[in-house]
Amino acid sequence: MSDTLSKLTYQTFQQGKNYFSFAHKILTSRLRNLVHPTLAQTSQFIPQEAIPKLQNRLNQLLETDWQDAEKGIYPTSVLFDNPWEDFFRYYPLIWLDLPASWERSLKNSQQVFSPEIDKDSYPSYYLQNFHHQTDGYLSDLSANLYDLQVELLFGGSADAMRRRIIAPLKRGLAKFQFLSPKQIRILDVACGTGRTLKMIRAACPQVSLYGTDLSPAYLRKSNELLSQNPLELPQLLQANAEELPYLDNYFHVVTSVFLFHELPNTVRQSIIEQCFRVLKPGGILIICDSIQKSDSPELTQVIDNFPKMFHEPYYRDYTTDDLVERLKKADFENIDTQVHFLSKYFIAHKPV
Ligand SMILES: C[S@@+](CC[C@H](N)C(=O)[O-])C[C@H]1O[C@@H](n2cnc3c(N)ncnc32)[C@H](O)[C@@H]1O
Repeated sequence: MSDTLSKLTYQTFQQGKNYFSFAHKILTSRLRNLVHPTLAQTSQFIPQEAIPKLQNRLNQLLETDWQDAEKGIYPTSVLFDNPWEDFFRYYPLIWLDLPASWERSLKNSQQVFSPEIDKDSYPSYYLQNFHHQTDGYLSDLSANLYDLQVELLFGGSADAMRRRIIAPLKRGLAKFQFLSPKQIRILDVACGTGRTLKMIRAACPQVSLYGTDLSPAYLRKSNELLSQNPLELPQLLQANAEELPYLDNYFHVVTSVFLFHELPNTVRQSIIEQCFRVLKPGGILIICDSIQKSDSPELTQVIDNFPKMFHEPYYRDYTTDDLVERLKKADFENIDTQVHFLSKYFIAHKPV
């Protein structure tokens, strides 16, 4: 396919996902307002004046995504990677799950778990129905619906935002060129269902990949996704990121995507310190998470509205947390930040 044609196909594919997500949001909120008028939003989640700004940021994100593929940072095929089978299998379940999530919203009870879930082995801050998810992160149903829900939330751009970690990751690896690719170790902290690991695998086929998460259900889902790839399976381990079960100075790169806004602020610091501990001198940490008020003052209202719509108990605190300061406190240096669409990136180096 010619470049122009593939670019057009990519843009059309993304636009299709965006329209679908928009229609989904409209339909589900209308239905919710009908069934539970008391849950009807008094203000618009995205104020009218923010819409062109968001559209502009989204266009820029997609352009950068396309450009990075063109430069060979990752194969163009990853731009079209979409879990279609999951979509057809689980999208109807998103609708079926809505009444239960509205019920929890109505009662303002967001620590509800099925009786068979053993809650004893998790920190209390984790036992939440984040984003109104049934069983929080602790069931197979939640793991099966998660990626679709995130895609619907971000208008189909979640993977494009995750991919923004790959260019800095590859730049960071340049200083380890004297090693063979297999000797390079990359860890994704809070890997969830494995989407980031899948993209890193596509961009760096030979490296040794590791993923860790607190949720056994999400790790099972991750294993299901990653084992479809004929290349070597990443090593997945269940662990609390506050106590990473790896040796000191072990990894060349540590990444973490969409974790930090779901943590109390003291836990954010402990996890940054753990990442520092397991990184080799000269290694890099790349964090991707939500934008914050300091980098996107023009989207303050969108940022403020987010935790009103979705159960995100630590998000408000995250939006004003100075992560650069936290990284410095952990002894990281040469810290760079970037913003793409609704995500912010922190790229920090462990001194040599
Ligand atoms: C919003 S999801 C992000 C998942 C994935 N990185 C992604 O890009 O979609 C947050 C993930 O963090 C995990 N998590 C939350 N607190 C954790 C902790 N203390 N240690 C390890 N994983 C944690 C959850 O189980 C969940 O999979």
